[in-house]
Amino acid sequence: LGGMTVHTSPGPTCGTFSHLWLRLIGSQGETPPICVTKDNNHLLPGSTCSVQVQARSSLGRLILVRLRLEAQTGFPNLDWHCSGVEVCRLGKGQGSDPETQVFLCDRWLQVTDGDMDLRSGKLCLLEEETEEKLKEQRLRQLQHLQQLIRWRIFVDGAPQCVDVNSLSELGPNLCYTQKSAATNLYYLNGFATRAESWRSFSELETIFTYSGQQNSVATFVKAHWMEDWYFGYQCLNGSNPLLLRQTRLLPPNLPVTSDMLRPFLPEDSSLENELQKGNIYLLDYEVLDGVPANVINEKQTYLSAPLCLLHLNRQGQLLPIAIQLQQKPGPQNPVFLPSDPGCDWLLAKMWVHNADFQCHQLISHYLRTHMMAELCCVATLRQLSEAHPLHQLLMPHVKTSLKINFGARASLLASKGLFDQAVGSGLMTLPVLMSRASAKMSYRTLCVPDDLTDRGVDKLPQSYYAQDARRIWDAVYRFVTSWVDLYYRGDDAVQHDSELHHWLTDLNTHGFTNGFPQCFHTRAEVSKFVTMLIYSCSALHAAVNFSQLDFAFWVPNCPVAMLRPPPQVKGAVTEDDIMSFLPDVNTTCRVLMALNGLSQPAINFIPLCHYKEAIFRDDAHRRLLEEVQAQLKAISDAIAERNSQLELPYPYLSPERIENSVAI
Ligand SMILES: *[C@@H]1O[C@H](CO)[C@@H](O)[C@H](O)[C@H]1NC(C)=O
Ligand SMILES: *[C@@H]1O[C@H](CO)[C@@H](O)[C@H](O)[C@H]1NC(C)=O
Ligand SMILES: *[C@@H]1O[C@H](CO)[C@@H](O)[C@H](O)[C@H]1NC(C)=O
Ligand SMILES: [Fe+2]
Repeated sequence: LGGMTVHTSPGPTCGTFSHLWLRLIGSQGETPPICVTKDNNHLLPGSTCSVQVQARSSLGRLILVRLRLEAQTGFPNLDWHCSGVEVCRLGKGQGSDPETQVFLCDRWLQVTDGDMDLRSGKLCLLEEETEEKLKEQRLRQLQHLQQLIRWRIFVDGAPQCVDVNSLSELGPNLCYTQKSAATNLYYLNGFATRAESWRSFSELETIFTYSGQQNSVATFVKAHWMEDWYFGYQCLNGSNPLLLRQTRLLPPNLPVTSDMLRPFLPEDSSLENELQKGNIYLLDYEVLDGVPANVINEKQTYLSAPLCLLHLNRQGQLLPIAIQLQQKPGPQNPVFLPSDPGCDWLLAKMWVHNADFQCHQLISHYLRTHMMAELCCVATLRQLSEAHPLHQLLMPHVKTSLKINFGARASLLASKGLFDQAVGSGLMTLPVLMSRASAKMSYRTLCVPDDLTDRGVDKLPQSYYAQDARRIWDAVYRFVTSWVDLYYRGDDAVQHDSELHHWLTDLNTHGFTNGFPQCFHTRAEVSKFVTMLIYSCSALHAAVNFSQLDFAFWVPNCPVAMLRPPPQVKGAVTEDDIMSFLPDVNTTCRVLMALNGLSQPAINFIPLCHYKEAIFRDDAHRRLLEEVQAQLKAISDAIAERNSQLELPYPYLSPERIENSVAI
C-alpha cells in the first residue's frame, strides 16, 4: 500500500518510551494495528519513524489514522507529543505518482487515552461532513469529552467551572503554562507575623523604597495619590476602567443639591446644566451594599458601598465632587465634599478605592476574564468538535484558563488563601458578590462598543482605555468575521449548525443569564459573540492584570481592607487616624507579594492573534492572520506614538503586550 511516517515534536520532553500502535481507516476498510516502534524505531524528540504498510484489501479513501500508546514494561510511562502522521500511498496504476496525506496531531497523547483518531482534511461544520465515518468520529469524540470534562458549580449564580479535583485530571493538553519565578519579594518576606497596624507613613515609605521604587508608575502613584485629578485619572486609565459611567440624572439615593456642589462647578454653570451637557460621571458600588466583610488577624474589617460623583471640567480633568460611603442616605451617611477637612475628603476617597479593589479583583478581573475564559473552554471542549472551525479559533484563547483558575480556587480564593487572610472580601463575601455581579453582567457590558457607548466614555478625549479597547475590538472583530465567513457560506449555515447551538445552550445553561443571545441567526451575531469571548480573554485581561501592581503598590492608594468602619460624621478623623484604617503590616505584605507573583510574565507569552497551533499555518488561515497582525501592529505603533507625547503613558492595551489568553 505504501509508507507512513510518524513525527514526534521537537521539544526536549516530547519523546516517550512507550510503544505506538497505528491503524489506517478508509472508507471501505481498515488495516490491522501496526506497531510503529519495532526494530530500532523510537519516539525520540524531533524524530520521525517510518513503517511500511501492506493492506490485504482496498481501504478506499483514507479517512482517519488511529493511534494508541502502550507503556513499555520496565520503563517510565511518559506522555508523547506528536506533531502528525504522513501517509504515502503508491499510485494506482503503473507509473502514477504516489499520493501523500497529512494527519495533523499537534498535541500530547497518553497511554490512558486509548484510541486517538487523527483526521485528514480541513475544518468544517458537522453538516458539511461528507464521510459518514467522520460524522461518527465527531460524535464519539464529543461524547468522550463530555464524560471527561464536566461542569461544577463554584458559586451559586455565577458562571460554572470545570469539575476536577486535581490538576492531573486535566491531562497534559490543558495543563502547561509556566511562569518565571517571582523576583522582588525579598524585602517583603520578613513581615509574616507582624499582625499590627503600620505606625506611620514613613514606615510605609521605607517598605516602598525597598520594593516598589523601581516601578515608575507606582512611584508616580505615591507622589500624586492624594490629588483629585489623579483620582479621576484612575477611573479612566487605571486598573479598573470598567465602572465609570456618564449620568444625566442624579441617583435618587444621593441627596446632593446644586447649591452644595456649586463651588466645584464652573461659575457660569450649574449642576443641572452640567448633567445635561453630559459632564457628570458616576461610580456606583451598589454591588457591595450590605455584603459581609472579612475578619482578618482576628479583627473585624469593614466594607462600604460608595457613590461617587465626578465632574469633567473644561481642562479635561475628571474631578470627584461628592462621595457618599453607603447606599442608603441618612444623617449617619454624610455626603463628603472636596471642601471638607482634608482628612475627611482623603479618607472618603480611600474608601472608594477600597471598594474599587474588591470590584476590580473579583468582578473585572476574576469574573469577567478568568471565569469567562473557563466557561468558554469547558463549553467548547464539550460541544464543538475539533474539526469545527470555532473550536480551533477559540481554544488558543481559553485553554490556559483551566489550570490557572483551578490554582486560584485552590489557593487565592480558598480557606487560608489570600482573600481569606488578607482582603476585605473574604470567604463569606465572595459568593454574595460574585452571584450579584453575575446577575448584573449583561451581554452589552461585555461588548466593547456597546459598553463604551452605554457608559458615555467613548467620547472622552483622554480615556485611553476606551480608545485602545475600541481599536482592538474592531481589529479582532474583522479577523473573526473573516474566519466565520470562511466556513459559514451564509446565515443559513449558522442556523443549521447543530454543534454551534449546543455550544450556546451549554454556555447559557452554565454561565450567562442577562440578555445573552439564546440563538444565532446570522454570521454577524456569531462574529460579535466570538469577538466578545476573545476580547475578554486577552485584551481585557491585559488591561486589568497588567496594571494591578502599579496602582496597588502604594498601599494608601489601594487599601485592600479597612480596619475601622466608614465614618458617620464629618470632622472626626486626624492624619494619624488614617493609618489606623489601613490593613496590618503582615496582611499588606502578603497582598503585595501575591500581586508581585501575579505580575510575573508567563514564559510562553504568546501575543494577541498569534498562534502556535499547526492548523493556523494552513494557507487560508495564514492570510487572515497576516491581515489581523498587520492591523494590530498599526495600532501598536499608533499607541506608541501617542504615549511618547504623554507624561503618563497608557501602555496596557498595546497589542504586543496583550497575551492571547488568560494565563496568569
Ligand atoms: C499575621 O500574623 C498573625 C500573627 O502572627 C498570623 O496569625 C496571621 O496568619 C498573619 N497573617 C498573614 C496574612 O500572614
Ligand atoms: C488619562 O490619562 C492621561 C495621561 O496618560 C491624562 O493626560 C488624562 O488627563 C487622563 N484623563 C483624565 C480624565 O484624568
Ligand atoms: C500581568 O501584569 C504584569 C505587570 O503588572 C506583567 O508583568 C505581566 O506580564 C502580566 N501578565 C499577563 C499574563 O498579562
Ligand atoms: Fe489574571
